[in-house]
Amino acid sequence: MMDNMTKQEIMRWLQCPAGSELDTLQARADKTRHEHVGDAVHLRGLVELSNICSRNCLYCGIRRDNHAVQRYRITLEEIMDCAFKAVEYGFGTLVLQGGEDAGLTAAFIGEVIRRIKTETELAVTLSLGERDPAEWKMWREAGADRYLLRFETSNRALFDRIHPPREGHASTSRIAMLKTLQDIGYETGSGVMIGIPGQRYSDLAEDIQLFADLQLDMIGVGPYIPHPQTPMGNWKDGGMGDEQVPNSLAMGLRVVALARLVCPGANIPSTTALATLDGKAGREMGLCWGANVIMPNLTPLKYRRLYEIYPSKAASTETPEQSRDAALKQIEFLGRSPGRGRGDSLYHLQYK
Ligand code: 5AD
Repeated sequence: MMDNMTKQEIMRWLQCPAGSELDTLQARADKTRHEHVGDAVHLRGLVELSNICSRNCLYCGIRRDNHAVQRYRITLEEIMDCAFKAVEYGFGTLVLQGGEDAGLTAAFIGEVIRRIKTETELAVTLSLGERDPAEWKMWREAGADRYLLRFETSNRALFDRIHPPREGHASTSRIAMLKTLQDIGYETGSGVMIGIPGQRYSDLAEDIQLFADLQLDMIGVGPYIPHPQTPMGNWKDGGMGDEQVPNSLAMGLRVVALARLVCPGANIPSTTALATLDGKAGREMGLCWGANVIMPNLTPLKYRRLYEIYPSKAASTETPEQSRDAALKQIEFLGRSPGRGRGDSLYHLQYK
């Protein structure tokens, strides 16, 4: 079910010069996407629930110690408005994302899930960070379908350097958490940032192999974008010379393509971070390099600019309707079709 690729092979694709060889990678990824998940582009409405976060990740604009951010938490009724909008727009899934905010209580999220599940047919994806497995279970029982938790980098020393653990806690293994999420029965998604200072090509190759080892249902990747109000925003580079992975759109596209080749049936979004680096063109290119999902932003506009995990986030001023129209136009332009239904993972349907 997964295409095996050696680490050397992956590294060769990551480092080959632009030109005919790289064109082969794009063509292979696009063909694999077409053969395994077809031409439908699934639309997932994204709702950013809260920018309150108890964690202090060194790269993230909504980290706890960034006091320049005005904090918000959405209401239940506002979430339901987004859900009805998603239905009206023909989206199959609502993605609920937020910081590690204790105020997004297990009971509140449980109630949100139950309401969406009784009042719509939407699939529900949660992206709420590292939470207590008992809460993950409860939300699954309330009807949540999918969970996203990026492992960010498989290099444990690098991960620990940029993710201070919770106060009084040891550092955590997101790999172990992903297995827990799978055991609970979620369609499980993960991913990485590309071009973290200190990230080597060999690290990135191992990340890509880990996508396959974990048998992920969903894989979301994007270039690391420095945020000036974070400690990492001012780091120059990791002193790795030409082993350092660049945080470019071009490198992001290579990783999307390789993710498609090692996990042919996965749902792979063309992410906002890809779109941020080259206007809207980045998102379109993602769809041509193996991606089959886009996540138009449905967050109410008054909150949108406050969810600034990195600067100049694409579409931070677009209305939900404009986000939908832009997505549909891109899909049509590429000769693809908007997905119908929930767009579940093939792996989850077949094997789990
Ligand atoms: N640049 C790029 N991606 C970022 N994320 C957080 N901060 C940044 C940044 N500065 C990504 C992380 C996280 C996801 C929600 O956003 O990968 O998992």
